[in-house]
Amino acid sequence: DWTPDSFVEETVAKLQAQIRNDKVVLGLSGGVDSSVAAMLLHKAIGENLYCIFVNNGLLRKNEYTDVLEQYKGMGLNVKGVDASARFLDALAGISDPELKRKAIGRVFIEVFDDEAQQIQDVKWLAQGTIYPDIIESVSATGGPSVTIKSHHNVGGLPDFMKLKIAEPLKALFKDEVRRVGASMGMDKALLGRHPFPGPGLAIRILGDITPEKVRLLQEVDAVFINGLKNAGLYDKVWQAGAILLPVNSVGVMGDERTYEKCVALRAVESTDGMTADWVNLPYEFLQKTSNDIINKVKGVNRVVYDISSKPPATIEWE
Ligand code: XMP
Repeated sequence: DWTPDSFVEETVAKLQAQIRNDKVVLGLSGGVDSSVAAMLLHKAIGENLYCIFVNNGLLRKNEYTDVLEQYKGMGLNVKGVDASARFLDALAGISDPELKRKAIGRVFIEVFDDEAQQIQDVKWLAQGTIYPDIIESVSATGGPSVTIKSHHNVGGLPDFMKLKIAEPLKALFKDEVRRVGASMGMDKALLGRHPFPGPGLAIRILGDITPEKVRLLQEVDAVFINGLKNAGLYDKVWQAGAILLPVNSVGVMGDERTYEKCVALRAVESTDGMTADWVNLPYEFLQKTSNDIINKVKGVNRVVYDISSKPPATIEWE
């Protein structure tokens, strides 16, 4: 019978037998999967696990510093790399969703490779790949993230991609990953975090990306997500976030006509992200959230709620 405890015990033993005294590098994303994978490896090989957490400048508000602190509290050996400027430079002027993903994937690989090369004699790359990632990676939208797909031609590969691969979670679904994390005593708030795409807010800013748009969307997203938490709704939703639309609309404030940004809110129910339904959030909650966003975030005068299911829509807008 599968239990989280027996999974941890067996996986740790397997990792020890496989990896022995080798060094392993792992890219942390702040999400559930890479964090649980890191804890399993930490249990198995301790200080030989080298974690890298890259700030791509497209994370949620305060996420980089908060998550880095949390990892250090968990005893993980983590190097934080703030590469925000490098990512935002590479994205400047790009509006096409696939080109955004490609630019982010390319810079991520460059940054990760620079860091991995600084660890002497590293032999393994560990990843938090879970079962649905393997299925989704053959579909159109599962672009690059911290999960680096291993189907490229060997030869022109970055050094870290020539490493042996360890993917301890690749047979599990998300709910099982969360149970495994809980059985290792990991923080409930971390395990309950909503999925967040590797390209981050870049695929929630329609059109080109500027630092100012990122800041604005971080503010809107924070109001929405904190609102869900305060209303006790966060854990009832699979994933939620805000999207900055490339649309200005007319509004009025006092005696003044405004012409400002419109944001969409999205909240979905799902079990694996492959299909999803929009969540019937209470009207009172939507009303308060809309008011809070428009009052607190300068530059936004209109909020809409996305009522599309997947399929035929996707969870992300890009
Ligand atoms: P879609 O938008 O395809 O998203 O319905 C399904 C799930 O995958 C996440 N997602 C991504 N995750 N890199 C990631 O790591 C990506 O490029 C990416 N695109 C979508 C999305 O947030 C949702 O949970």
